[in-house]
Amino acid sequence: MSSLIAQPSGEATQALPSVSPGIQRRHTLPASEVRPLNAQDAVSVFEIEREAFISVSGECPLHLDEVRHFLTLCPEFSMGWFEEGRLVAFIIGSLWDRDRLATEALTLHKPRGSNAHIHVLAVHRTFRQQGKGPILMWRYLQYLRCLPNVRRAVLMCEDFLVPFYRKMGFKVLGRCAVTVGALTFTEMCYPISGHAYMRRNSEAIRFPNAPLTLPPPRANDRQMDV
Ligand SMILES: CC(C)(COP(=O)(O)OP(=O)(O)OC[C@H]1O[C@@H](n2cnc3c(N)ncnc32)[C@H](O)[C@@H]1OP(=O)(O)O)[C@@H](O)C(=O)NCCC(=O)NCCS
Repeated sequence: MSSLIAQPSGEATQALPSVSPGIQRRHTLPASEVRPLNAQDAVSVFEIEREAFISVSGECPLHLDEVRHFLTLCPEFSMGWFEEGRLVAFIIGSLWDRDRLATEALTLHKPRGSNAHIHVLAVHRTFRQQGKGPILMWRYLQYLRCLPNVRRAVLMCEDFLVPFYRKMGFKVLGRCAVTVGALTFTEMCYPISGHAYMRRNSEAIRFPNAPLTLPPPRANDRQMDV
């Protein structure tokens, strides 16, 4: 039990409970953690989006209410990378039920769909150029293999990012039917073949059964129809 002690100023302050140093509780956050996001993470997500997109082009893939919408509706299609409790990178996805993306895919989650639509991947400015974006994407793609019914991951990106996603094994499907203002996009996909061997791994925190190790994209990934 703690007690009040008098200070020279006359004020009383709360004394710390006397605990031997050996049993003092540590309040450290995990150095590194990857977990699905939830609606409480929406503001942190949007802060990264604001800097990454809005400050650059005035637009962003998902507005705050849309982030909340997807993190409430289908949090299992999101993934966040936290360093000491701080969100440093994230992916938000949902399911889509057609071969190609359409404007409705930007706002809808189709639970019966077999395409994991990746709405956004972003890394906090101060954590870029450290390989975190590709690592998080590899973990996400591997995680998708553990979800039933997911056959492929699909995304639309500006043309300058095509080489970035190609490096991760995505194939170009062609021009995307979706446009946002004057922006046009390339549509890309990644086949999710078979289910990963499910094993527990201490680093697959809060993704039970999700393997930690992510093999780089296989050279013999089948070419997708365009
Ligand atoms: C694009 C983004 C996710 C990359 O993540 P990152 O962790 O910073 O990636 P890195 O800089 O460590 O790059 C890893 C590799 O991708 C390449 N790369 C990174 N950004 C690239 C780009 N814009 N175009 C082409 N290649 C790129 C790097 O050259 C590097 O290749 P290497 O391994 O052969 O050297 C990150 O810069 C970001 O969040 N940008 C703002 C948001 C955004 O544009 N998101 C994507 C669209 S949704």
